[in-house]
Amino acid sequence: MNLALDPRAVESLLAFWADAGVDASYAEAPIDRLAEGAALLRARSQPTPAAPAPRPTLVVAGSPDITAAIAQAKAAASACNDLEALAAAIAAFDGCALKTQGAKQAVVSRGPGNAPLMIIGEGPGADEDAQGAPFVGRAGQLLDRMLKAASLTDRVFITNTVFWRPPGNRTPTPQEQAVCAPFLERAIALVNPRMLMLVGGASAKAMLKREEGILSLRGRWFEWTASDGSNELPALPTLHPAFLLRQPAAKKKAWQDLLTLTERLDRPERPH
Ligand code: URA
Repeated sequence: MNLALDPRAVESLLAFWADAGVDASYAEAPIDRLAEGAALLRARSQPTPAAPAPRPTLVVAGSPDITAAIAQAKAAASACNDLEALAAAIAAFDGCALKTQGAKQAVVSRGPGNAPLMIIGEGPGADEDAQGAPFVGRAGQLLDRMLKAASLTDRVFITNTVFWRPPGNRTPTPQEQAVCAPFLERAIALVNPRMLMLVGGASAKAMLKREEGILSLRGRWFEWTASDGSNELPALPTLHPAFLLRQPAAKKKAWQDLLTLTERLDRPERPH
């Protein structure tokens, strides 16, 4: 069949792939999106275009581009005195390269702003990007069912390590997470939860600055520390619900983690 000559066949093939969950397409050759993002950040931080544009380079943590973007994020985040202002500041922020890689909008949070538990996922997917709220797709629906079964609905504030959908649902890079981190830390300060649940390896590694995989980190309590040392909270890594959809046998472990978490959450707080 020559697809190029038969538009109905092309349409049907595209519908088939869309049903199968394929929502992004790629060129034959790889594109260095990090370098593109770096070039963009440089262009934004240099209003006078006198000098020829520097060649894009791979952005690494600690590079001037990332350092400048993190400083901008810190300044913008610290000026926010409530969650509404924080959501607006995130939406207006141009320092994260993900914003220019096909995301429709910033996806910030859902849940009560005084929740005792904060859930931090990896980053928005296609459904979240379309609806503007975290964990609203299939994985999010599973998460909601688990939270309901653990009587945690309405007691959780849900957000992510990055606020724009990584293209093709890839894992966010440490650089993208580092640029978004000041906003996330500000959200933690404003919500002031009693503990964190870190959903998936990319969240657990970024928040805890650990290298182990999620299967080794999950179910163990760690101490999350704010970058300036001003705040510390107990944090429990667990398996990502998207992983549980692919590996239903792992649900038992995730359920154990949730029970570990609720047991601590419901324990009366000791007076200071
Ligand atoms: N996966 C995540 O990590 N976060 C979301 O918001 C959705 C899917």
